[in-house]
Amino acid sequence: MTEPFTVAIDGPAAAGKGTVSRAVAAHFGFAHLDTGLLYRAVGAQVLQGTNAIDAAHALMPEALEDPSLRTAAVAQAASKVAVIPQVRAALVDFQRAFARRAGGAVLDGRDIGTVVVPQAEAQLFVTASAEVRAKRRWTELKERGEDADFEQVLEDVRIRDARDTERATAPLRPSERAYILDTSHMSIDAAVAAAIAQVEAKRSGLR
Ligand code: DC
Repeated sequence: MTEPFTVAIDGPAAAGKGTVSRAVAAHFGFAHLDTGLLYRAVGAQVLQGTNAIDAAHALMPEALEDPSLRTAAVAQAASKVAVIPQVRAALVDFQRAFARRAGGAVLDGRDIGTVVVPQAEAQLFVTASAEVRAKRRWTELKERGEDADFEQVLEDVRIRDARDTERATAPLRPSERAYILDTSHMSIDAAVAAAIAQVEAKRSGLR
């Protein structure tokens, strides 16, 4: 397939968007962009003392490879810089160009279906309860050998949810065309299968 075909996958922190997105991209042979990494890279720069808007304008794709972008401190910094409209505006062209590349693309984030690519052919909103998401994040941290406190992880999830959903510019919410995939009581395999089925239905024009 050489035509553009965009899959927009939005949802709150730790809902399983990353896993679902990577699996959908691998299944269909599409490119994948985790747009949270863009905000994390800007957040990491701010923690080093750079101005957020300057950091967003100067962002290089190589910066997305840095493993330290995955820390909890950078996640909170990302959610703070994501509130700034000029930061969001500076990052949107890169995301749109990626979305419309030939051969298909999956973008995951918070505002892909609502703002970045409202024309995305397939749109999913992957969610789960705050407790389930915190439990998954906590287990992941434990497996990495980090000493995490569950209540603290839950608090972090709630703070980020509030900031992401209550901001004025591009708040987190499902687009009108999004298929809501609540993974609270689903295995990863079942969530991935449901997402692939949705995208396949859009691809074959059944829905
Ligand atoms: O998906 P993530 O946890 O890596 O995202 C980190 C933060 O970046 C998130 O709390 C809000 C922000 N973000 C955003 O505002 N819009 C996006 N499309 C992706 C992430």
